[in-house]
Amino acid sequence: MMSSCRLENSAGPNTAAPQHGIMNSKEKEKYIEEYDFPYCDEASKYVKITKIGQGTFGEVFKAQEKNGSKKLVAMKKVLMENEKEGFPITALREIRILQLLKHENVVNLIEICRTKANHYNRYRSTFYLIFDFCDHDLAGLLSNVNVKFSLGEIKKVVQQLLNGLYYIHSNKILHRDMKAANVLITRQGILKLADFGLARAFSQTKNGQVNRYTNRVVTLWYRPPELLLGDRNYGPPVDLWGAGCIMAEMWTRSPIMQGNTEPQQLSLISQLCGSITPDVWPGVESLELYNKIELSRGQKRKVKERLKPYVKDPYACDLLDKLLVLDPQKRCDADSALNHDFFWTEPMPCDLSKMLAQHAQSMFEYLTPPRRAGNMRHHHPGPGPGPKPSTIVDTGYQDRVF
Ligand SMILES: Nc1ncnc2c1ncn2[C@@H]1O[C@H](COP(=O)(O)OP(=O)(O)O)[C@@H](O)[C@H]1O
Ligand SMILES: [Mg+2]
Repeated sequence: MMSSCRLENSAGPNTAAPQHGIMNSKEKEKYIEEYDFPYCDEASKYVKITKIGQGTFGEVFKAQEKNGSKKLVAMKKVLMENEKEGFPITALREIRILQLLKHENVVNLIEICRTKANHYNRYRSTFYLIFDFCDHDLAGLLSNVNVKFSLGEIKKVVQQLLNGLYYIHSNKILHRDMKAANVLITRQGILKLADFGLARAFSQTKNGQVNRYTNRVVTLWYRPPELLLGDRNYGPPVDLWGAGCIMAEMWTRSPIMQGNTEPQQLSLISQLCGSITPDVWPGVESLELYNKIELSRGQKRKVKERLKPYVKDPYACDLLDKLLVLDPQKRCDADSALNHDFFWTEPMPCDLSKMLAQHAQSMFEYLTPPRRAGNMRHHHPGPGPGPKPSTIVDTGYQDRVF
């Protein structure tokens, strides 16, 4: 377990700084090369197996511990290319939050590792976040039609997702990047919320004070209406909107609202959830962009109606209807969602490991073949080492549009 990662330039126990205090550049290089970082092992204790992710903030590899347990891990590289100020504050924030959160349904950060600084890397270390390896991400699983979830299995996925959210929200953390690729699933069927790269702590506002958080968070397709309208005093409901989108995707198998621009995303939301008006959402008129963006008028709410062909279970439709609520104050929270009849009616949530045992191969969004034109994926520019589109049906990967 990692207690802290000391990156400051205090002498490690095995390193003797020159006695006279001033180092010439050769001495400095030797000092850096031999510096012993306590609590921060060398990344070479793991051997990389394959690349499994390419996000905005760096690459992710599947790797294995060389000695000891031979444990499988995921190594997430800390991107430092454009850093002038040393270790990036965004990565520090992610690490601090991951150190705080310890729960069965949150990805486990094992430690931070670094490469040795030397002449070849211009005395710059690379740092990695080391996680317990999870076999799949939900985006990878959902894009493979051979992966079939029963109703009880879907309930288990959604229940664990909400359990994770309940835990992080109780710890005053907002995830702010809910989407299927950031939800991991182990072969034992345990779901883990991952990617705390955009997460932050939040506080309840006291006596009239308002928070001023950035609203440029959450991948567009999962972004709730309050963020799209410029709200900067948002809270846990932003993650529950994403949870609703992910829950619907368990049936539609593809993101339910795929806008290309922010106004278009709002328009897709209105087509599903009805027009955004002060009637259904008191106070919306005071959000910064409410009068600046042209909103669709006269749209009826059609959440149940449009989802019913996919989501046949009436309890599931009802819960979706309570998560995909425009007004964040009226949107269901994680606790009430977990108490919904959906989870307490036959078929009850059931173990996923039997179904997953039929799939030997790991499934990740990054390894999914590219989508055909008009059904854009974002983040990673190129395809993983997947088959060409003509063989998509053979491999079980297929597009479905809601
Ligand atoms: N612990 C892990 N086990 C397995 N795969 C992981 C793990 N962590 C991340 N990944 C994979 O790498 C991808 C990118 O990692 P993520 O933490 O989401 O970073 P980014 O900010 O780059 O999106 C994820 O979508 C997932 O497919
Ligand atoms: Mg991610």
